[in-house]
Amino acid sequence: MTKTVGEYLLGAGAVGHLGRVLAGHADSPGDRVLYLVDHFFEDKIRALPLPVKAADMLLYVDTTDEPTTESVDALVATVRAGQPVKAVVGVGGGSTLDTAKAVSNLLTNGGVAADYQGWDLVRVPGVFKVGVPTVSGTGAEASRTCVMMNHGKKLKLGMNSDYTVFDRLVLDPELTASVPANQFFFTGMDTYIHCIESLGGRYRHAFADACSEQALRLCRQVFSGTDMRSAENREKLMVASFLGGSAIGNSYVGVVHPFSAGLSMVLHTHHCVANCIVMNVMDEFYPRETEEFRRMADANGIRIPRGLCRGLSDEQYRALYDATIIHVKPLANALGEGFRDVLSLNKAAEVFQRM
Ligand SMILES: [Fe+2]
Repeated sequence: MTKTVGEYLLGAGAVGHLGRVLAGHADSPGDRVLYLVDHFFEDKIRALPLPVKAADMLLYVDTTDEPTTESVDALVATVRAGQPVKAVVGVGGGSTLDTAKAVSNLLTNGGVAADYQGWDLVRVPGVFKVGVPTVSGTGAEASRTCVMMNHGKKLKLGMNSDYTVFDRLVLDPELTASVPANQFFFTGMDTYIHCIESLGGRYRHAFADACSEQALRLCRQVFSGTDMRSAENREKLMVASFLGGSAIGNSYVGVVHPFSAGLSMVLHTHHCVANCIVMNVMDEFYPRETEEFRRMADANGIRIPRGLCRGLSDEQYRALYDATIIHVKPLANALGEGFRDVLSLNKAAEVFQRM
């Protein structure tokens, strides 16, 4: 059994209907809505047609670094200090959406974020939550997790739970019009990578396959080399991201995400650019897809960063390896139960060195 988003509103201008989406949950005068907005919008908040009322609370989410259990706990403490909120609206990219999901869960479940990192640890539904993505690709709008770094435990793990799934989504491709080309490509490729990993795995599922295949078709159209950021392509990518996120909710990722998580954990590289850096050297694990990925980057004039792991110490390689091999489910999905034999410390170090 798995849960998916109950309702969504899709199309240019959809965000103008957010008030209607909140109806029945936070439409009385005293009902307080918590808006968690990516700090990127701090100086252009007026351009977003959000129905913020005097009683509501709007907090900016600092997305300079990926969400941590500490950053989530700090936001929750600020919200708990005031009146209760009836709904949480996350407006931003994957980091902001994941933060909104985590905050919503914590407001009703109590405790701290680290208590719920794992599978099915959230006890009761969170506060009614709405996701409004402003960049497409991470699938955070669809998934049943919210990824957070836990630096104390050296762990990157989310609250995997049906309760983490957004109650509503507002998918408005107008909101992604101002995303810079590099970020648009790197984030969009997160979807491509989710899908090739899902389809390349051992734990297949007809629903996940169907979502992945269609999302890949859309990605191939969007990144074929015509204007990837045209209005039509922005809408296609928004749908692809949602489908890709739905796919991995029903299956698992593969080799790319564990390596990418290693880069994020040890070198603080952001998820989407880290994925692309890894994908660029995946010839032995995903040969056809690696070539296709490079073609799509070239066609859109995107340069993938290189040399990230040059000159690292043995301890750093060990830390990278530890933060990679910990992702048992995706690695077993991609390489089988004996994944530790395939991916020894030396083998992983070789892969990191190629980045
Ligand atoms: Fe991802």
